[in-house]
Amino acid sequence: NNFVIIMAGGVGSRLWPFSRTSFPKQFHDILEKGGTLLQSTVKRFENICLPENIFVVTNKIYKNLVKEQLPFLSDDQILLEPVKRNTAPCIAYASHKIAIKNPAANIIVSPADHIITEVEAFEQSMLKALAATAEKDILVTLGIQPTRPDTGYGYIQFEEEKDELSRVKTFTEKPVIEMAQQFVDSGEFVWNAGIFAWNARTIIKAVKQYIPDLHDIFFEAQKSFYTPQEDEAIRRAYSLCKSISIDYGVMEKAENVYVILAGFKWSDLGTWKSLYNELPKDENRNVILGNTITYNSYNCMVKTPHEKLVVLQGLQDCIVAEYDNVLLICRKEDEQKVKDFVADAKNKG
Ligand code: GDD
Ligand code: MG
Repeated sequence: NNFVIIMAGGVGSRLWPFSRTSFPKQFHDILEKGGTLLQSTVKRFENICLPENIFVVTNKIYKNLVKEQLPFLSDDQILLEPVKRNTAPCIAYASHKIAIKNPAANIIVSPADHIITEVEAFEQSMLKALAATAEKDILVTLGIQPTRPDTGYGYIQFEEEKDELSRVKTFTEKPVIEMAQQFVDSGEFVWNAGIFAWNARTIIKAVKQYIPDLHDIFFEAQKSFYTPQEDEAIRRAYSLCKSISIDYGVMEKAENVYVILAGFKWSDLGTWKSLYNELPKDENRNVILGNTITYNSYNCMVKTPHEKLVVLQGLQDCIVAEYDNVLLICRKEDEQKVKDFVADAKNKG
């Protein structure tokens, strides 16, 4: 009775120009290891649930990308959103869809863009979480030992561990830097990996309690699920939904939240620096994906088309990224600004 919901509708704009609206990072073989992020995410669950119990939620413009990359999925397993409304509507939609046929389904919700290479340890944690959510009405999230005061993550403070699961005291989504620093210094917090486990009835109840309007929208829409009217019902539902993440909407507020601490390496490929951290470096600590000659250049992250020769001279701590018709050159320390470049670039055509 295990199910997996894969959230694959984000744009990944901080990895621009490589990740872009027309072709977001989850559909790329970003590490150049064979297999896209979406494909390796799905593969990670092969011993946890049956292939017919995997649901991918994405924007309708990515339908063909998902079908090409995961040809074994039936159309009913690819849930298409007409607009981007962040993760709470995505989870509400998929949970109701699964619950119609399996009201007591045990569900894992996973982003499509994380890197986890120690698959066995990951499986152990997920199975442990699923065993707990089958018995109790609890929301379980995966916790990661923090290594820096990153403001892009949720922070979890928890009580003493029991049976690998710890009760969560506080959940703070994307704190300001001063707060993130205090959290990390205190040693009492872990990062939220954004990988969740719960029972269908538990998450539906939590959405009903904390985001009641969202619950009502999908409660109404589900009457049309698995019928020819589903598309129309979903269009209507999404036109009524506000944009809200599950972290702000439910996890920060709920009281029955538990965390399972990851005993394996985890990385969210959110930014150029995270990609840099993930990959092997040359003797000058450059990460080079592409055909590049470097002179007197250090700590750079370079990802360019292999057919283009790139020569770097005297460059330090920079990102050099070319994809399609866009070339980005920027300091690594300014990587959070990449998001802003995208809007301006759009205006330039
Ligand atoms: N279907 C769908 N629709 N998927 C979406 C949407 C949407 O509108 N928006 C985002 N996603 C997908 C993304 O593609 C990604 O796989 C996942 O949902 C999480 O969204 P992000 O936008 O990447 O969230 P985040 O990284 O800012 O924050 C979350 O993840 C962090 C860890 O990586 C939160 O859960 C944080 O608390 C957490 O620390
Ligand atoms: Mg993310």
